Amino acid sequence: MAKVTTDIAKAADLLIADQVVAIPTETVYGLAGNIYSSLAIQKIFEIKKRPKFNPLIVHVSSIAQAIKITKEFPEKAKILAENFWPGPLTLVLDKNPMIPDLVSAGKQSVAIRIPNHPTTLSLLEKLPFPLAAPSANPFNRISPTKAKHVADYFDSEIPLILDGGNCQRGIESTIIGFEKEAPVVYRLGSLALEEIENLVGEVRIKNQADNSPSAPGMLKKHYAPKTKSILVEDAEKALEHITNEHVGIITFDRSIRSDKVKHQIVLSETGDFREAAANLYDALHIMDEMELDLIIAEQAPNQDLGKSINDRLSRATQ
Ligand code: TXA
Ligand code: MG
Repeated sequence: MAKVTTDIAKAADLLIADQVVAIPTETVYGLAGNIYSSLAIQKIFEIKKRPKFNPLIVHVSSIAQAIKITKEFPEKAKILAENFWPGPLTLVLDKNPMIPDLVSAGKQSVAIRIPNHPTTLSLLEKLPFPLAAPSANPFNRISPTKAKHVADYFDSEIPLILDGGNCQRGIESTIIGFEKEAPVVYRLGSLALEEIENLVGEVRIKNQADNSPSAPGMLKKHYAPKTKSILVEDAEKALEHITNEHVGIITFDRSIRSDKVKHQIVLSETGDFREAAANLYDALHIMDEMELDLIIAEQAPNQDLGKSINDRLSRATQ
């Protein structure tokens, strides 16, 4: 049984002893281990049932630490780090050879971020090593945004879940890599593209059809509920064609009246992108537990974090 606790010292002790523990971040909960412990890193892959070709994000508590584990820190990466760390931005940079191949899945690069959560920042400051942490969900399933989601997945597999409350951002970090010094988006996330482009100019979004899983978070099917789910432009219209009895609806900001709808979640009544993003995965978790015949998700406006919300909804409904 995993102990759900706010005891940072206890989590640190376990991590020092090569154990894997769940940690809160502002985006989603992570399954964390010492990057230098092959035992811990192997456990992470095993517990998640994650393919070994899929590298992990390294979590550090300072830019100095990030610089240490990289070979080079391009100018634009520096600008982004200084502006958005701690925060929901992951930078993929050439790695220093000290980063174990197991963590970077044999790549010459390493993904790094400073998470913006007081509990985990204080944990990282106590530890003499960075933490590798993928999202704390089994491969391809919905990411966890509260301690309970992690307990539902991994109660018997990990000794401790560090409880940091509900994740404030609720969607994974935005991942940026560099190709010939130009920033490239590998995964849309909690940091809106507009915010990034305001600082470093236009960024290219890596086409998933490239089919080199530079960020397998870009795999077509991901973040998926078990219940059959579809993504539509207009949920009201979609309902006209639907004969299922138990339908759940997730909308961005409007509510829909229909006898067919058994359960409905509005992500943000006021149409606030941040609030909607923070509620997205919990909505999918709730709907997935209701034994519905079908979940209908309606697209968010395709701007700001609406792009990231739509990205996740489209992968969840493949
Ligand atoms: O918000 C987040 O980023 C959360 C929290 C826990 O920090 N973590 C997270 O980790 O989402 P994970 O493992 O679920 O997703 C990490 C993504 C994967 O798609 C992986 O392929 C990509 O990062 N990635 C890691 N290292 C990479 C590298 N060297 N090059 C390209 N992509 C990389
Ligand atoms: Mg993940």
